[in-house]
Order: sequence, then C-alpha cells, then structure tokens
Amino acid sequence: MTGALASLALGVLASGLLAVGSAHAQQDPRRSGYDDMSSATQAMQRDDTQNPAMLFVADGEALWKRPAGSDAKTCASCHGDARTGMRGVAARYPAFYGSLARPVTLGERLNLCRTRQQRAEAWRAESAELLALEAYVALQSRGQVITPPDDTRLAPFRARGEQRYRQRIGQLDVHAKVVRIEFELVVVGTQTGVLLDIHGQRGDRPLEGQLPVLVLSGRCFERHG
Ligand code: HEC
Repeated sequence: MTGALASLALGVLASGLLAVGSAHAQQDPRRSGYDDMSSATQAMQRDDTQNPAMLFVADGEALWKRPAGSDAKTCASCHGDARTGMRGVAARYPAFYGSLARPVTLGERLNLCRTRQQRAEAWRAESAELLALEAYVALQSRGQVITPPDDTRLAPFRARGEQRYRQRIGQLDVHAKVVRIEFELVVVGTQTGVLLDIHGQRGDRPLEGQLPVLVLSGRCFERHG
C-alpha cells in the first residue's frame, strides 16, 4: 500500500478508536469523526475483517516480535505482550519527551525505542513499517478515550496549536468553513504524524510545523461552522 493509503487506513482505525471511546464517555462533549462518516464506512469500521487498517495491524504485530539492532532485541523483549504492555499508550500521545524538550507523536516515540533501545536505524516517517507498528500499538487502546497528558510542559505547544487551528488560511475568509475539515484531518494526523492540508492533500511539511496542531487534536472534537 502507498503511504497515503496507509495514512487513510490508519486514520480510519484511529477515528474508530475515538468513536468507541466517546460512546463510553457520555458526558464528554468531544465528538468523533466517526459520527460524520458514511454508513458504509462506519460498517467497515465495525468489522475488522473488512477494515483495511487491520492489514497494517497484522504487519505491526509481526514487527513487534522481529529482532532488530546489534543486540537483536524485539519490542516484546522489553515490553512483553503488547496487549498489556501497550494498553492505553496510544490514547495519551502526543506526549512530552524530556530529553528532546518537546512533545513527540506515537510514531516518534516508537522510533525513539528503535534507535535508543534497539540500536537499530530509525524508520522513515510514514514508512510502511512505522505505520504498521503504530497501527498495532494504537489498537491496544481500542475503546479508550483519547486522554491528553496532564503535563504543563505541553501548554505552550497547545497554545500554538490553538492559534494555528483558528488561523485564517488563504486570501478568502474561509476560516469558518474549513474548521470542521481541519478537525477531521487533524484526527488523521494524530495517529500518523501526517497532516493533510485543507484541500485534502497529504502534507510533506516537516513535523515541526505540524506538531502544535497534533497536540491540540485530542481536545477539539466539537463541530464548527
Ligand atoms: C531494551 C528495552 C526496550 C526495547 C527493545 C524497546 N523498548 Fe520501548 N521502552 C523501553 C523503556 C525503558 C521505555 C521507557 C519506559 C518509561 O516510560 O519509563 C520504553 C518506552 C516505550 C514507549 C512509551 C510508553 C509510554 O507509556 O509512553 C513505547 C510506545 C515503546 N517503548 C514502544 C516500543 C516499541 C514499539 C519497541 C520496538 C520497536 C520498543 N519499545 C522496544 C525499553 C525498550
């Protein structure tokens, strides 16, 4: 699959995760992009055998157990069974990473273990491997509500994210119309490290510029405009 398709599949998986979570948290004013999907897409979400994201999950499970680096360690060597070791992890990313002094996405966090713990080469952002492992780790939080960490170090990044979220784009005053689209795209970005622009194109801009939006995403599920 191409990176774009992979992102799409992963986004679909991610919003399914949100949807299940929001059903459990009835007081939570946030809403999932799942609610705006067509009934066909929703049906696909409810059936793992129909959901293309599950192909990535299967690849991710194999990668979880594959030795890498000089010590030939696997993710499982240190974290054990992902169903318990990774439960709830995806629901709290992006999270602040002390030694980099900034938030990291889930994908970046996996790559940090790959380079620092396994001493293997980092996977390229959006590579099939990284997306697959992310999908597998994200699945272990299925049913959980996205819960941004209660970490004051994230505050300045959230403030920048909010500013970007509300920023008018282009020469026309399209702000009110695009806000909802941005919201849906941000959900995709949360799980993949990829942000789509307002025309739905996959952005290849550096993560630095996207990060604040990604950090904010866990809090912005209400409908605008
Ligand atoms: C040599 C041991 C080791 C290996 C191998 C390893 N990790 Fe880790 N991992 C750690 C340690 C130690 C931490 C930090 C735990 C903490 O937060 O205190 C960590 C943290 C993480 C976290 C963050 C958890 C959280 O609660 O935020 C994720 C996600 C993760 N690892 C995924 C992976 C994946 C995926 C692989 C395989 C590509 C992997 N790790 C390989 C030792 C390892």
